[in-house]
Amino acid sequence: MLRRTAFAVLAALAASPALAQPYPSKPINLIVPFSAGGPTDVMARIVGERMSKELGQQIVIDNVTGAAGSIAMGKLVRSAPDGYTIGIGHLGTNVVNGAIYKNLNYDLIEDLVPIALLPSNPLLVVTSTQVPAKDLKELVAYLNANADKVSGGTAGMGSGSHIGALAFFEVTGTKYQLVPYRGTGPAVQDLIANQIQIMIDQSSNSLPHIRAGKLKVYAVAAKQRTAAAPDIPTTAEAGFPGIEVTIWHGLWAPKGTPREIIDKLNAAAVATLKDPEVRRKLEDLGQDIPTPAQMQPAAFGAFQRAEFAKWKAIIDKAGVKVE
Ligand code: MLT
Repeated sequence: MLRRTAFAVLAALAASPALAQPYPSKPINLIVPFSAGGPTDVMARIVGERMSKELGQQIVIDNVTGAAGSIAMGKLVRSAPDGYTIGIGHLGTNVVNGAIYKNLNYDLIEDLVPIALLPSNPLLVVTSTQVPAKDLKELVAYLNANADKVSGGTAGMGSGSHIGALAFFEVTGTKYQLVPYRGTGPAVQDLIANQIQIMIDQSSNSLPHIRAGKLKVYAVAAKQRTAAAPDIPTTAEAGFPGIEVTIWHGLWAPKGTPREIIDKLNAAAVATLKDPEVRRKLEDLGQDIPTPAQMQPAAFGAFQRAEFAKWKAIIDKAGVKVE
């Protein structure tokens, strides 16, 4: 009897939070919704590497591709809410997909908990070097004259590159065939090889290739020029005001993840984006770094909800949907 009681006390103590392993006590899985080598993956690796130092545990990248991130977010929603599976996403995966995909069996806002807002970057209008246009007006004339021969890459319906292409079509009145990829990492390689001719692509993906002379750039789809490449005119300066899409990123966890874990992950993300070396790498790719206040889970959640209301109205009006 005495031995049994002693055993019960020991078992209760072992299960008590005081004796539980401090979080994190094993590697953290980070779900990335697009292919390796693309902009979301690059952000995940830069931020994840520094966050893992802060947390004292490895962050393991898990690229779960397809359907513009909606397969990855489904996997995240179904993961155990214990802080050992988190996900990175962006305006497309965590806002636009909620309005476009009519058959998602989860709710991007209610079934995920925001951890931290991450940097944002503008889209650039880029083509293969084989496209003869010298500026954006010439490019639009070229597209109008060659509509049946030109194709452009996207990372699927709802991705940043897809909504960029829709904004480009809307404002310029031109159109070309859209080719979906599992991420803009592979798409930009096909653009360099002229397998496709055009992309409205995140600066972080295209800038290194523009600098290497492997792609042509016509405009930055933003109100202001980007400090990372100040010579590129805005779409308004290049003659087509109104094509302005900024792709912001963020980290989320499954609903039910304990508050202390969210706060610990948030603190690691905030410390990461204060690191001068991390900032330099991201800014060089055209990324704007949010303030610690903007990164807080509550502020980020409110921002995501506001973005959802804005984009749902735009998408419903445009009638874009996947059944
Ligand atoms: C990617 O990582 O491939 C991109 O974020 C895709 C996109 O949204 O255009």
